[in-house]
Amino acid sequence: MKLSSISIIFFFATLQALSVLQVNSQSTDSCNSNLNLDLPFDTSLLNCLPVWSRHDFILRYVRNLSNVWNFVLSAPDTNSFVAMGFSTTGQMVGSSAVVGWVSADGSGTVKQYFLGGQRPNLVVADQGNLTIVENSTSITSRSSRVYLAFQLNTSQPLSRVLYSVGQIRVIPSAPGFALAEHRDKVSTLLNYRTGTSASDSQHSRLRKSHGILNMLSWGILMIIGAMAGRYFKQWDPMWFYSHAAIQSCAFLLGLAGIISGFVLEDRLNAEVDTHKALGILILVLGCLQVMAVFARPGKESKVRKYWNWYHHNGGRIVILIAIANVFYGIHLGEDDGTSWNAAYAVVISILFLLSIILEVKLWRQN
Ligand SMILES: *[C@@H]1O[C@H](CO)[C@@H](O)[C@H](O)[C@H]1NC(C)=O
Ligand SMILES: *[C@@H]1O[C@H](CO)[C@@H](O)[C@H](O)[C@H]1NC(C)=O
Ligand SMILES: *[C@@H]1O[C@H](CO)[C@@H](O)[C@H](O)[C@H]1NC(C)=O
Ligand SMILES: *[C@@H]1O[C@H](CO)[C@@H](O)[C@H](O)[C@H]1NC(C)=O
Repeated sequence: MKLSSISIIFFFATLQALSVLQVNSQSTDSCNSNLNLDLPFDTSLLNCLPVWSRHDFILRYVRNLSNVWNFVLSAPDTNSFVAMGFSTTGQMVGSSAVVGWVSADGSGTVKQYFLGGQRPNLVVADQGNLTIVENSTSITSRSSRVYLAFQLNTSQPLSRVLYSVGQIRVIPSAPGFALAEHRDKVSTLLNYRTGTSASDSQHSRLRKSHGILNMLSWGILMIIGAMAGRYFKQWDPMWFYSHAAIQSCAFLLGLAGIISGFVLEDRLNAEVDTHKALGILILVLGCLQVMAVFARPGKESKVRKYWNWYHHNGGRIVILIAIANVFYGIHLGEDDGTSWNAAYAVVISILFLLSIILEVKLWRQN
């Protein structure tokens, strides 16, 4: 009895030790270890970063020549394909991927696939939009990991990068090399300059915050604040305090929104020059308004007339540019921005109608 329970304990202890070994062997690669692979290109100067922690994917890359980029993707060897895709939208459909696997006999295959659609017959081997340098691809299995290496001939690879891993023990085969559906995939953003990679969902949250902050501050609150300043003068001095309070609030929120825009641009490596320029212009005009408040001449002063003219028209210009930039930002940031556009358009229309009514009232009073 005793002996058997000891042997059971021994059995489980051994299992435990083996599983620890297994875990250790799965992480034989890290960014601290050197690549000892026989690759067609130099691997000593590669940037290295973990890109998909769930599957322990590690990416190494460097710009070799002005138009040649070296990539080595390392992943646990699970007898399945590994893939690295480049996408313009972050979606699989329309992307091109470098896919590699090692067959049971130890031979490796690397192919480019074009992902024309969700159905398997739309995923075609030996097609796609990546210019892979001739004879630069290889895939090697070493210490329970596979190393997929390739060179791209491009001045700048796309930063929306997808990774996927195939079903265990299912690898594509001749003649069509049809790609069975992946076991798992992730969509990321790779900043080649800073060497950072982040999951795309994080950015979609940041994108949303950026949109909501700016829409709310410059695009909505500023208008309400301006209306308080223009139409509620009969409640003196309440109109002044509410106008100042709303505009200060809007300015601070808007400042946060614009800063989030800079962060977003940097993380996404986005090409949003016009949107950014308009944002900066809005911020500068907004700052001028804030400064003007402090340089406000007294009510009886002769120049007060000019100051009023400047303050009112400056404010109108900020609001008009802001409205345009909110719509433009939605266009840039959302594949399908219909609901955002509609929601914002409804708010703007209500404010517009309200100000027409109040404007008419104002004229009647005078
Ligand atoms: C750059 O790529 C070329 C062409 O594949 C190769 O001959 C050369 O060794 C590479 N240089 C480095 C530093 O990797
Ligand atoms: C990308 O490659 C696919 C398949 O080779 C082709 O049908 C498509 O037109 C290409 N797209 C671009 C933008 O070159
Ligand atoms: C990259 O592409 C250009 C133009 O297609 C070609 O002239 C050049 O030789 C290519 N470079 C490599 C390393 O294949
Ligand atoms: C690529 O490999 C093939 C077969 O080994 C060879 O015939 C061809 O010349 C190579 N191309 C280059 C550019 O080295």
